[in-house]
Amino acid sequence: MTVSPSPSDPLLDVRGLAKSVPGPRRLFADLDLAVAAGELVTIVGESGVGKSTLLNILAGLDEADAGEVRIGGDPIGPLDETARTRLRRERIGFVFQAFHILPYLTLGQNVALPLALISADATAANARADTMLARVGLGDRGGGYARDLSGGELQRVAIARALVHRPALILADEPTGNLDPETATRVLALFADAVREGGSAAVIVTHSDATAAVADRVLTLTPGGFARRDAPRAGG
Ligand SMILES: Nc1ncnc2c1ncn2[C@@H]1O[C@H](COP(=O)(O)OP(=O)(O)OP(=O)(O)O)[C@@H](O)[C@H]1O
Ligand SMILES: [Mg+2]
Repeated sequence: MTVSPSPSDPLLDVRGLAKSVPGPRRLFADLDLAVAAGELVTIVGESGVGKSTLLNILAGLDEADAGEVRIGGDPIGPLDETARTRLRRERIGFVFQAFHILPYLTLGQNVALPLALISADATAANARADTMLARVGLGDRGGGYARDLSGGELQRVAIARALVHRPALILADEPTGNLDPETATRVLALFADAVREGGSAAVIVTHSDATAAVADRVLTLTPGGFARRDAPRAGG
């Protein structure tokens, strides 16, 4: 089922995606999703329904059993691991549910890393990283390490890192799950800016109505596929 009033050339184009996990249990089948540049889509759904699995497949971190994922028109299925890594570095910003902040780098180095991997200009990378840390309210913590941060602070570092290289596609898994409502609203504005001003496409998995409230579309993932819900937004 196609759920979007689909733009002619979506940045993210998913067709007929299917995935089962050992058990065996079918998470989803025949899933379609099209997200345009400049569009922010949120995905909600019960715990265990397959939201994180879907995001991982979209980023080429997990394999679908069937179907196709295209990013910028290019199918990612045929890419080898080197090409997928490159695609992720250059075009995708991913906020993991478990953050994955590298413990042996400073927080500033963590945030600068995506830029450092694709550009030789370390000064510019560090300056941009400082800007992003300031935007998530951690401007004075760049020299510190992950071990000294709270869960919500780590989550904000992960968000800064995902947006630092202005990725074409933003994939975020529960990015406000550890944040108080005020901080959540503040970082959600960063995603919204990246999409509305930066022209990124974003798919954000969330349980929070505040996240869903910044969305162009809210999709509910069920074992039967996407059930569309009118965006926006149940109060709050
Ligand atoms: N490699 C695996 N082997 C067995 N089961 C798996 C595997 N990977 C995922 N699963 C199962 O698939 C289901 C979907 O997991 P997933 O993490 O995608 O759910 P989710 O929708 O993100 O849930 P939550 O909201 O709790 O984060 C879960 O029941 C999980 O246990
Ligand atoms: Mg999950």
